[in-house]
Amino acid sequence: MTARIIDGKAFAEDLRGRIAGHVNRLKTDHQLTPGLAVVIVGHDPASQVYVTNKARQTAEVGMHSEKYELPETTSEAELLGLITRLNADPKIHGILVQLPLPAQIDPTRVILAIAPEKDVDCFTPGSVGRLAIGLPGPVSCTPLGCLMLLRNEFESMAGLDAVVIGRSNLVGKPMAQLLLRENCTVTMAHSRTRDLAEVVRRADIVVAAVGRAKMIAGEWIKPGATVIDVGINRIDAPEKGPGKTRLVGDVDFEGAKAVAGAITPVPGGVGPMTIACLLANTVTTASLING
Ligand code: GUN
Repeated sequence: MTARIIDGKAFAEDLRGRIAGHVNRLKTDHQLTPGLAVVIVGHDPASQVYVTNKARQTAEVGMHSEKYELPETTSEAELLGLITRLNADPKIHGILVQLPLPAQIDPTRVILAIAPEKDVDCFTPGSVGRLAIGLPGPVSCTPLGCLMLLRNEFESMAGLDAVVIGRSNLVGKPMAQLLLRENCTVTMAHSRTRDLAEVVRRADIVVAAVGRAKMIAGEWIKPGATVIDVGINRIDAPEKGPGKTRLVGDVDFEGAKAVAGAITPVPGGVGPMTIACLLANTVTTASLING
């Protein structure tokens, strides 16, 4: 069997088109332009690419976009000062502070400083709690993107065995909540899981979010399973020339493709969905803030 490739790029493009239509209606019918501020501290090259893409795509769907690039040496107090200003700014309905932050800044203090109603990442305790008890509101961008791709694959996920590999607050934990909401039987696996291969082998749905290149072997995958690879890992690619690199996921794509029913590629799978869902969340928070 050769797995069908789940085209996250095309799905995200379609979603952005629908978001642009929604933004247009908010502008004309309610005189509301959703606004997103993205903040980056330091010059991590991967984070810079993500933040530039987020700001550009925000503007492309017709929203108000602000991008703050702060130096690596920024103090926690300076960053908190910016967040306080953005919290009070009526043009801004979503605030995203790109993680990771430099060592002198405590990410928890920063996340707690973001006004809950502008928390488009869904990192603040209220957002996490809302998701846990099933109240409406924005949902963490990457898990939401994974869920949309999965919903497109299945009429119903009820009763399916799903394994989430990785227990981060960013992806693993909210992903497990969303799969539970879909009535999956959810296993959360992580670095201390005994016999990960056996756990993965049972799963109809595999969501890999560990951040380790090709850690999930192709032969672990159950034939016909749906594989969602959240990992974006840069590895050396000597075949492309000296010093060249390429991006790979947490799953051994070629091995898994031979047995899975459907699989997301890296790049072009989950990545584009994360940004599209950030835009969708900003529309949601703008609508909620403005009643
Ligand atoms: N760094 C990597 N992914 C994310 C994300 O989804 N949100 C934020 N704020 N930082 C990230």
